[in-house]
Amino acid sequence: MFSEFRNIVEDGLGRFLERSDACPARLEESMRYSVEAGGKRLRPVMVLMACEACGGDPQNALPAAVAIEYVHTYSLIHDDLPAMDNDDLRRGRPTNHKQFDEATAILAGDGLLTLAFEIIAREIAPADVALACVIDLASAAGIEGMVGGQMADLQGERAELVDSQETAASDKSGCAPVGTAGRTEQERKVAQLEAIHLRKTGRLLRSALTMGARIARADKKAIEMLDHYGRCVGLAFQIADDLLDITGDAAKMGKGVRKDAELGKLTYPGLLGLEESRRRAQSLIDEACRSIEPLGDRGLRLEALARFVLERDH
Ligand code: IPE
Ligand code: IPE
Ligand code: MG
Ligand code: MG
Ligand code: MG
Repeated sequence: MFSEFRNIVEDGLGRFLERSDACPARLEESMRYSVEAGGKRLRPVMVLMACEACGGDPQNALPAAVAIEYVHTYSLIHDDLPAMDNDDLRRGRPTNHKQFDEATAILAGDGLLTLAFEIIAREIAPADVALACVIDLASAAGIEGMVGGQMADLQGERAELVDSQETAASDKSGCAPVGTAGRTEQERKVAQLEAIHLRKTGRLLRSALTMGARIARADKKAIEMLDHYGRCVGLAFQIADDLLDITGDAAKMGKGVRKDAELGKLTYPGLLGLEESRRRAQSLIDEACRSIEPLGDRGLRLEALARFVLERDH
């Protein structure tokens, strides 16, 4: 699916890693190992599609597409470390720290994260668009986005997360739950979980859309429209990931399954059950598709991509 855009992305992912000639061979091998293992390439494809949907040339967005996939790959390498989810399998291969060692895996992640920002700063033009993309990606990947969400995910696992105000206050999306008064314990937990998912996964996905739109020089209204689509798809994507941890097949997924309950993770199916989780994810995808209706035919690929998020089995 989406092979045309995926091929452009695959080519870019290899090419931008070639530039680092002064990189120690083992570090480069470790970075390549995880990047070239594959993956759905959902985020970089979204960058290209958002650019196209806003009337831009997807080729101009390739550096941002490569950058977001490097950031995502780094997040997976670190997510799998023994100190985090302690996983052995990723993208159908032994996890980076199993194949190399923990220190190399940490440094490979650091290398990909840093390279991502160098690529945007060097390759995206004009400079004001590069700057806006750096802000989008940094805030999405950082303490108010993925890194903050990963912290909250680990705290949730250890049942340390008692005040959802904390999570809500740190989500600057304006979409997080506000306050806990009058809520049942169950509602409070769902609100906490939504705030975690919006940050650990949702923010990065949103930045794929906004970067693509900015590179096409879209106006504020179009950027906000795609941002809303990204928020809905991002949350649905992590709900689907939680569902696949229960119902999925490790061989198809290329990663371990049935791990979340073992680790005591807060998940949608864990809190609401399979059916209600599917229903919520479906309604988020419907909302995402509705929100890009003003794009007309130019939004059709993004609509198909949103539907894929729920239909996927990997
Ligand atoms: C897995 O992301 C981690 C989450 C944020 C849920 P993907 O399912 O996009 O992983 P790859 O890139 O296809 O391997
Ligand atoms: C990871 O969520 C989100 C990241 C920011 C990497 P998970 O821990 O559920 O992702 P998987 O299931 O290991 O891919
Ligand atoms: Mg995790
Ligand atoms: Mg994990
Ligand atoms: Mg998961």
